[in-house]
Amino acid sequence: MSKKSVSKPDVAVLPRHVAVVMDGNGRWAQRRFLPRSSGHKFGVDALKRIVRRCIELGIGHLTVFAFSSENWSRPAEEVQTLMGLFIQALQRESAELARQGVRLRIVGDLSAFSPEMRDLIVQAEELTRSNDRLVLNVALNYGGRWDMLQAAQALHSAGEAPTAAGIERHLALRHSPDPDLLIRTGGERRISNFLLWQIAYTELYFTDTLWPDFNAQSLDEALVDFSSRQRRFGGVPEANPRAAA
Ligand code: FPP
Repeated sequence: MSKKSVSKPDVAVLPRHVAVVMDGNGRWAQRRFLPRSSGHKFGVDALKRIVRRCIELGIGHLTVFAFSSENWSRPAEEVQTLMGLFIQALQRESAELARQGVRLRIVGDLSAFSPEMRDLIVQAEELTRSNDRLVLNVALNYGGRWDMLQAAQALHSAGEAPTAAGIERHLALRHSPDPDLLIRTGGERRISNFLLWQIAYTELYFTDTLWPDFNAQSLDEALVDFSSRQRRFGGVPEANPRAAA
């Protein structure tokens, strides 16, 4: 018997795949008269908490939006801080993720990153590749429109006629099921070019909690809310072919 008992949220149905727009780091820092970069640093801690909670609950896939195709337009100093944080996290956290049974996947247009960062990504993915407790997809330089376009271009290059199945074979998240639940923290209620194709039937959950404050209990609240949703996938309640087990 495990020493530490894990209290489970009272839910009938857990999502297989949770996606998160981690918003509110800057405001969290500004409210404390700290630089925005400090909010991002605390954001990394929040991500670690959520990874642990997903593992405890047996959620198989977690996808987080860490840097969008549009985030390059932020002040150079903030972009630099974020790149530094990603590099640091890849260097410092990969071994712990591997120990926890996490398979790390970095998804997005990686051609924009430095060779150092690309090497670290390859190493971290390699180190965690045999794990299957949780697939952690970190979206970096990612945009939903970019994803669909690159999938269509890949089909075109292969001389294949476009089909939905063909596009899905080339999307950045082809190794994960479509998200069942998308959480956005920080009070905004939009998708901001995150997973556009993959969220066709995803349940959306918005919370005012700023990302650095998001914790296991916040995730549990989102899961309880998800559990009460009636998913119909365009059909009728009885015909629900893809409900998460
Ligand atoms: C949005 O908050 C957050 C980001 C653009 C960065 C998210 C990155 C992290 C949480 C770090 C993740 C780290 C790793 C290693 C994956 P915002 O800055 O837009 O906040 P605001 O809306 O309050 O200004």
